[in-house]
Amino acid sequence: MAIKSEILNRLRNTTEYISGQALCEEFQVSRTAVWKAIKQLKEEGYEIDSVSNRGYRLVEVPETLSKEEIESQLETKWLGRPLCFKETIDSTNELAKKLAIDGATHGTVVLGDQQLNGKGRRGRTWESPLGSSIYISYLLRPEMDPMNASMLTIVAALATAKAIEETQNIQTQIKWPNDILVDKRKVCGILTEMSADMDGIDYVVVGIGVNVNVDFTDAKLFSKDVRDVGISLKEKTGQNVNRSSIITKMMSWFEFYYDVFMETQDLSNLMEEYNSHLVNRNQQVRIIERGGEWEGTAKSMNSKGELLVINQEQKEVAIMSGEVSVRGIYGYA
Ligand code: BTN
Repeated sequence: MAIKSEILNRLRNTTEYISGQALCEEFQVSRTAVWKAIKQLKEEGYEIDSVSNRGYRLVEVPETLSKEEIESQLETKWLGRPLCFKETIDSTNELAKKLAIDGATHGTVVLGDQQLNGKGRRGRTWESPLGSSIYISYLLRPEMDPMNASMLTIVAALATAKAIEETQNIQTQIKWPNDILVDKRKVCGILTEMSADMDGIDYVVVGIGVNVNVDFTDAKLFSKDVRDVGISLKEKTGQNVNRSSIITKMMSWFEFYYDVFMETQDLSNLMEEYNSHLVNRNQQVRIIERGGEWEGTAKSMNSKGELLVINQEQKEVAIMSGEVSVRGIYGYA
């Protein structure tokens, strides 16, 4: 961790003043290095009270994203180590894939404050305005059958839903396999990409977009389709939402659930919790496949990540994610 992140982390974890000397000794750096780090933090919008003979105290944290802001709160063992932060980026997924090809390690995370070319599923674009939402990609190198990799999307959906609930104190639901909903509207989407060959997986990139402080009524920013189904956390909670606390919780939960998942390489230990969030549980749904459409009753997700649906003949059909789309019969959810 860089010295600025270390100092910020130290200031965050106390309400007391900490002397410059104590910081120098703790992090084995010069007085000038501490002074410079504090000066930079102040320039970035951190309100730090400095009192001679007492030291420094953190008073207020700005709602800006930076490497230090995340690193100083991060509680993970391997996810986000390293963390690559870019204020402006084409797409966090694209950069994560490039880094993977250049040999970046398992757990590398790419975070952007704005995407110029954010990608959604099925070739759609993901509007990614500056300073208002979360655009993040996890680079993973799991040793497992490539056939099982799509379940990582489900792991990410559950982890992100938990982080939103915990930090915002609101209820979320999941639209199988991986859209997170608030009040039946989409607050988060996930795009997972993989590179694998006969020898197995080279890398998986799980890209997550969470709508945080954006305004979905803005017709200049969002198309009618997106406006109709989207919602942001600010719209739900009625207040500006701090992104860094959600991001660090998302990463903690993902790391935790990923380790649980890898023990069995299926969802047997996560499906109960996932199913308790499932929006379409026991509801009529329309299954849209390449060969046509049909209706049935969604039951639950199984340990392989398939959605179990009872069809008109009362037979249980297991649906795999990827090729199909599931809709509520009265609209998106
Ligand atoms: C969807 O269509 O629901 C998936 C949207 C995924 C968007 C995220 S934002 C971070 C990452 N980078 C991208 O370009 N896309 C994903």
